Amino acid sequence: MDKLFIITLLGMLMLANGVAENMVYNNFAILEELESFEIDEENDVVLFDIPSWTRERGGKVLVNVDSFGAVGDGVSDDTQAFVKAWETACATLEAVFLVPSERHYLVNATRFKGPCEDRLVIQIDGTIVAPGEPKNWDPDLARQWLEFSKLNGVLFQGNGVIDGSGSKWWGSSCKKNKTNPCRESPTALTIDSSSSVKVKGLTIKNSQQMHFVISKSASVRISEVSVSAPGDSPNTDGIHITQSTNIILQDCKIGTGDDCISIVNGSSGIKMKRIYCGPGHGVSIGSLGKNNSTGIVSKVVLDTAFISETTNGVRIKTWQGGNGYVRGVRFENVRMDNVDNPIIIDQFYCDSPTSCQNQTSAVKISEIMYRNISGTTRSEKAMKFACSDSVPCSNLVLSNVNLEMEDSTVETFCNSAEGFGYGIVHPSVDCLTSHDKETELSQNYILNEKTEIDELADSNSDHIVHTEL
Ligand SMILES: *[C@@H]1O[C@H](CO)[C@@H](O)[C@H](O)[C@H]1NC(C)=O
Ligand SMILES: *[C@@H]1O[C@H](CO)[C@@H](O)[C@H](O)[C@H]1NC(C)=O
Ligand SMILES: *[C@@H]1O[C@H](CO)[C@@H](O)[C@H](O)[C@H]1NC(C)=O
Ligand SMILES: *[C@@H]1O[C@H](CO)[C@@H](O)[C@H](O)[C@H]1NC(C)=O
Ligand SMILES: *[C@@H]1O[C@H](CO)[C@@H](O)[C@H](O)[C@H]1NC(C)=O
Ligand SMILES: *[C@@H]1O[C@H](CO)[C@@H](O)[C@H](O)[C@H]1NC(C)=O
Ligand SMILES: *[C@@H]1O[C@H](CO)[C@@H](O)[C@H](O)[C@H]1NC(C)=O
Repeated sequence: MDKLFIITLLGMLMLANGVAENMVYNNFAILEELESFEIDEENDVVLFDIPSWTRERGGKVLVNVDSFGAVGDGVSDDTQAFVKAWETACATLEAVFLVPSERHYLVNATRFKGPCEDRLVIQIDGTIVAPGEPKNWDPDLARQWLEFSKLNGVLFQGNGVIDGSGSKWWGSSCKKNKTNPCRESPTALTIDSSSSVKVKGLTIKNSQQMHFVISKSASVRISEVSVSAPGDSPNTDGIHITQSTNIILQDCKIGTGDDCISIVNGSSGIKMKRIYCGPGHGVSIGSLGKNNSTGIVSKVVLDTAFISETTNGVRIKTWQGGNGYVRGVRFENVRMDNVDNPIIIDQFYCDSPTSCQNQTSAVKISEIMYRNISGTTRSEKAMKFACSDSVPCSNLVLSNVNLEMEDSTVETFCNSAEGFGYGIVHPSVDCLTSHDKETELSQNYILNEKTEIDELADSNSDHIVHTEL
């Protein structure tokens, strides 16, 4: 974007509003900060030169689950065969753990642990299916179905399917029937405590709860992954990122009964590109701050998305009573189609059977940019900035936003939210306020931000970001 143009535009805007000149400078600094942060793709994780093991198998050792007794008829229990095949593959240099195509492998909750020998490929061409009966689930693995951990430099790929057979779990959820106890159900696929991981082309469907969780990991590239579950399946988030850094998701198609993508505490440097989302609850940062906890998320970019028939579009959600911050987020080039809340910040989030009390402490939300977002809304309040009374949102910046509703006018809701719009912004964001004091405060945030981001990167993963294999 043309800098001079922005300066001129802002100048005109601010003068027209009779705002002091130093504010123009402050706001411009914010813009520049938001414009300039990019997730580092130049230094991308170079995992393998071989895009597909089949094309150029030289040196690879095939470890086929069938050779370890897997039956693949969808009825026989293939868990032990998978465990034995994993032990062999993990201990072998340049192994390919193969789940052959056109078969259905019934596999129990299992931990696939690393570290493994170098250049492991997990090639999933067939279907891995979970036992469908919650009563028989291993209580020691209540939260997992297929969990991969402590891997470094691993490629997951194939046209296969990971099928959580979740329908009985959904039926026993407290969201479906209030007399059911609320308890956690397994995540279909988890990648935990790992680095330099690529996941390409898999389909994950009908998970018991969340579909794909990336936790405590760094440098993960996910592409062409599809996730699907019915729109009314409870808590079936598509891709959930927690305590992870330097993650790129691209060309993914996600439709479930909860968030298409959710990004929670301890995550930074997350880029989402070309995402198709719907049905579901949209692309979310949060929830954060539940039970007075600390939630920190920074440097998140969503660039190019189509969000259709969802309850939310781009959302930031935090509970009352939390602390920490969400800072440095850009949502851009998003097309919304029939979305209930296309743009929403909800600091009064309360996904609990009992009501939540307002508190003075909150997760601080600042430096959030919305750019080139258009389409249709199902609610008149096309934009909602419901921020904490005691910890206002600051530096919300909107540019070229156009949201419309059939046969109705639309409006923006603000509570305790500071920021501004430039270019076309419809509905208008006049309810965002800009106070001098606020701006000074936010200026300090900006000065601090770079160092804080650097610190965050240092403490978590800087040594991994530049890994080349
Ligand atoms: C799978 O889990 C069920 C229930 O816990 C158990 O009966 C069965 O033996 C398990 N299969 C394997 C191979 O561990
Ligand atoms: C809810 O669950 C209870 C206990 O399992 C059951 O008796 C009741 O019929 C269920 N209600 C609905 C609406 O399914
Ligand atoms: C939030 O993430 C940080 C950094 O990864 C971690 O140290 C902390 O324990 C997490 N807090 C919660 C409440 O999960
Ligand atoms: C959170 O902190 C507030 C204020 O200190 C306290 O009243 C509340 O009980 C706490 N909530 C939880 C879930 O611990
Ligand atoms: C809330 O946090 C406290 C202190 O960390 C913990 O003891 C308690 O179990 C948590 N409550 C819930 C509902 O998670
Ligand atoms: C705005 O976003 C839409 C939807 O992603 C995209 O097709 C279009 O190219 C974007 N426009 C600009 C100027 O980037
Ligand atoms: C919490 O505060 C918000 C904003 O001031 C207000 O709209 C809401 O009614 C309050 N909720 C409760 C439970 O007091």
